[in-house]
Amino acid sequence: MKVLVIGSGGREHALIWKISQSSHVDTIFCAPGNAGVQNLAECIDIPGTDIGRLLNFAQKNNVDLTVVGPEIPLWYGIVDQFEKEGLKIFGPSAEATKLEGSKAFSKNFMKRKEIPTANFEIFKNLQNAKTYIYNQKTPLVVKADGLAAGKGAVVCHSHKEAQIALEEMMIKRIFGEAGKQVIIEECLVGQEVSVLAFSDGDHVVPLIPAQDHKAVYDDDLGPNTGGMGSYAPVPFVDQPMQDRIYEEILAPTVKGLKEDGIKYKGILYAGLMISADGPKVIEFNARFGDPETQSILPLLDFDLFNILMAVADESLAAQPLRIKNKFSTCVVMASGGYPGHYEKSKVIEGLDTDFGDDVVIFHAGTKLKDGQIVTNGGRVLGITACGDDLKQSIDSAYKAVKQIHFEGAFYRKDIGRKGLK
Ligand code: AMP
Ligand code: GLY
Repeated sequence: MKVLVIGSGGREHALIWKISQSSHVDTIFCAPGNAGVQNLAECIDIPGTDIGRLLNFAQKNNVDLTVVGPEIPLWYGIVDQFEKEGLKIFGPSAEATKLEGSKAFSKNFMKRKEIPTANFEIFKNLQNAKTYIYNQKTPLVVKADGLAAGKGAVVCHSHKEAQIALEEMMIKRIFGEAGKQVIIEECLVGQEVSVLAFSDGDHVVPLIPAQDHKAVYDDDLGPNTGGMGSYAPVPFVDQPMQDRIYEEILAPTVKGLKEDGIKYKGILYAGLMISADGPKVIEFNARFGDPETQSILPLLDFDLFNILMAVADESLAAQPLRIKNKFSTCVVMASGGYPGHYEKSKVIEGLDTDFGDDVVIFHAGTKLKDGQIVTNGGRVLGITACGDDLKQSIDSAYKAVKQIHFEGAFYRKDIGRKGLK
């Protein structure tokens, strides 16, 4: 079988790494890919947003299944267009992607279906939004409605901060059209976790919970990033809590969408706060998480290609998936200055070290230049290690991190620490 994976990050490298282990798969293409992906897949120079060319490529090359990594092609309707042409593709339709692409849609949906989430109000008018915040207790959260590359939510500790966030989104339009409408919501307290589940529109099959580390510095300080590291499974999300997440959030979401005439096919990613009153949804994403995927996939004890195909074919069995009895930790090495301005094209050394069987280096912002692997993005590598317990996986990941060097490289030193408590 031939598989086309769309995207260029660590998530896509991890997907390709796992798909390449399937005995059913002989050829993998990746558009556009990165230097790490090149060892496993043929990289083709088409951006994920050029749906016409991707469709053409898939038809000409007899691709059996296309797997979409990032949200933008989903939002632009890649799944609808491929399916219209009779091509198999893994991911939700544009309409179902509203769950991620419009926070107003997603919050209103949760409210109607009584899916637990933070209390909220939606505003299109700045003055009304300002009046509202000054009548609320702080902290509160101001969010742009649309896609903002994970940067559209601001936790505000004072009314003044909330007012500035509103003005930046609604007047300065720092997130463009995404800030035409804003959501102001209650600030939830607890531990954040990500639960990713496969759904074929009827059946929902969750993966093990993972925890991302969004802030750039240790102890969750500094601005938010795409994610500086992750680990799985999360010890404090025990089986009874996982059952609640399934019963109260994942299953009612797919069922509720179906009642509204929307078939949800793909990965349903629930970003959750485990609060004193139980799990609550912070946000939904319509795709695999990055870097959660890098820590989850090494633990899967089944053929990922089969499951992706079953989702695309709407024949997912409602059976739990086989997971290895291990832990996995992914530490992101980033370019100096990220998530702000950073330089590219720094030579990466140490990648050819023998790290042992439990370590995998997933590439994100890397490319080949004059025969050398150089940096090409903010998040550069995801150093991932498995271990019999969480501590062992953390120690192995950091041991590998120390072998890799590039100018300006930095990483968080506390990935996984919350799971050890
Ligand atoms: P989002 O863009 O909705 O994923 O939000 C980004 C980050 O902001 C989340 O990962 C949380 O850390 C934080 N956040 C968003 N909404 C809330 C909330 N209602 N309460 C507390 N923290 C939140
Ligand atoms: N890890 C956060 C995200 O994928 O959106």
